Amino acid sequence: MVFISDIRQHIGQTVEIKGWVYNTRSSGSLAFVEIRDGSGFIQCVASKQELSDDAWNAITRAGQESSVAITGIPKEHPKKAGVFEISVTHVVLIHQAVEYPIAHKEHGPEFLLENRHLWLRSKRQWAILRVRDVVETAINEYLHQQKFIRTDSPVFTPNSVEGTTTLFPVPYFDLGEAYLSQSGQLYIEAAIASVGRCYDFGPVFRAEKSVTKRHLTEFWMMDAEAAFVEHEENMRIQEGLVKYIASACIEKCTEEFAILERDSEPLKKMVELPFVKLTYEEAIPWLRERGSDIELGEDLGNDDEALLTKDSPVPVFIHKWPKTIKPFYMKLDPTDPTRVLNNDLIGIEGSGEIIGGSQREDNFDLLLERIREEGLSPEEYSWYMDLRKYGSVPHSGFGIGVERMVRWMTGVEHIRECIPFPRLVNRVRP
Ligand code: 4AD
Repeated sequence: MVFISDIRQHIGQTVEIKGWVYNTRSSGSLAFVEIRDGSGFIQCVASKQELSDDAWNAITRAGQESSVAITGIPKEHPKKAGVFEISVTHVVLIHQAVEYPIAHKEHGPEFLLENRHLWLRSKRQWAILRVRDVVETAINEYLHQQKFIRTDSPVFTPNSVEGTTTLFPVPYFDLGEAYLSQSGQLYIEAAIASVGRCYDFGPVFRAEKSVTKRHLTEFWMMDAEAAFVEHEENMRIQEGLVKYIASACIEKCTEEFAILERDSEPLKKMVELPFVKLTYEEAIPWLRERGSDIELGEDLGNDDEALLTKDSPVPVFIHKWPKTIKPFYMKLDPTDPTRVLNNDLIGIEGSGEIIGGSQREDNFDLLLERIREEGLSPEEYSWYMDLRKYGSVPHSGFGIGVERMVRWMTGVEHIRECIPFPRLVNRVRP
């Protein structure tokens, strides 16, 4: 058996491919069957004269999504360079599918989401899954190059990281309630004292009733954390990561981008240029001059994020936010203690916030004060406070939303297509 993605190495030889029927068309004694095997798609051409009756029956009976083994001879398309076809010599029908509910026509999003287990097989979803894999692989590669190691964090947690309003409680045996993690950050802050630089990669949860094109209730986050790294260097690491991911997609996702009709030019430009940095205080008047009604002290809305990068070829870091609208763990700016040493990174092409990061408060007393100010219980965070008792060091980190990054890289409009099985406010099936 050979993979469709390797077919160019087998021109003129007899090969067998195994996969599913994606599309069929026949005209009299010729059948044109598009097969997908997971590695790619290829057109197979069968002629009644050249096949046994069994093989001809098999290929003409095999409807959409039937599974088949096809033997034949690959050749390059006479008119399209780089496109291959297989002249079929034999066919085995492995399983004949019953009538497939997703036809090659427009279907409504609710119907497709209800059939997500099948929808994943479409060419577009195949392309998105593969870009996601490239994004995830690139994240792992870049971090290892920067001397981070993967340590991972628990999903059941006793306390909040990103505010108590978006926690999902879970009954936990005799211990009362646990919560699904909003971010593994606090745990990798502990692990850096062992390994210096580390990251986790896994699902996180937000009980936010945000019904937007950018919110999931369960999404994948990569949290990275580094000892002895301060605010400016933290942003440099993030910029490097985003450029590394985009470069990997440009290099490896040509076929996927073509299927998704994603123009890679803006990404190619972006990786060559330095990212822009604006402090929160600079960003607010800049936005107001351009029509936003945002006030100092408020969080950025979707429209503000869109406005910030509308005409920018590069992402924009908005940094040093008011401490009042950011979590307790962020380090106060020594030059202005009403601000924190944090950043959001806003992507281009309408992708919005991709990364949230900050230098962490490493002073025991200041951290305790912030925990109290936020109305959190110091006892619950005692283990986290311990990290400020035994060799506390300046340290920083950030979290990237994988689906936000996939959405940007693929250019798809809705984040629900950027994760295999989306969990939304109104959906936990299939
Ligand atoms: O900015 P956030 O909330 O940061 C944290 O959780 C930090 N503890 C991370 C850290 O410093 N280690 O979330 C980080 C990123 C956002 O920038 C966004 O990309 C993504 O997670 N994100 C979401 N993605 C999809 N659906 C949601 N509901 C999301 N909320 C955040």
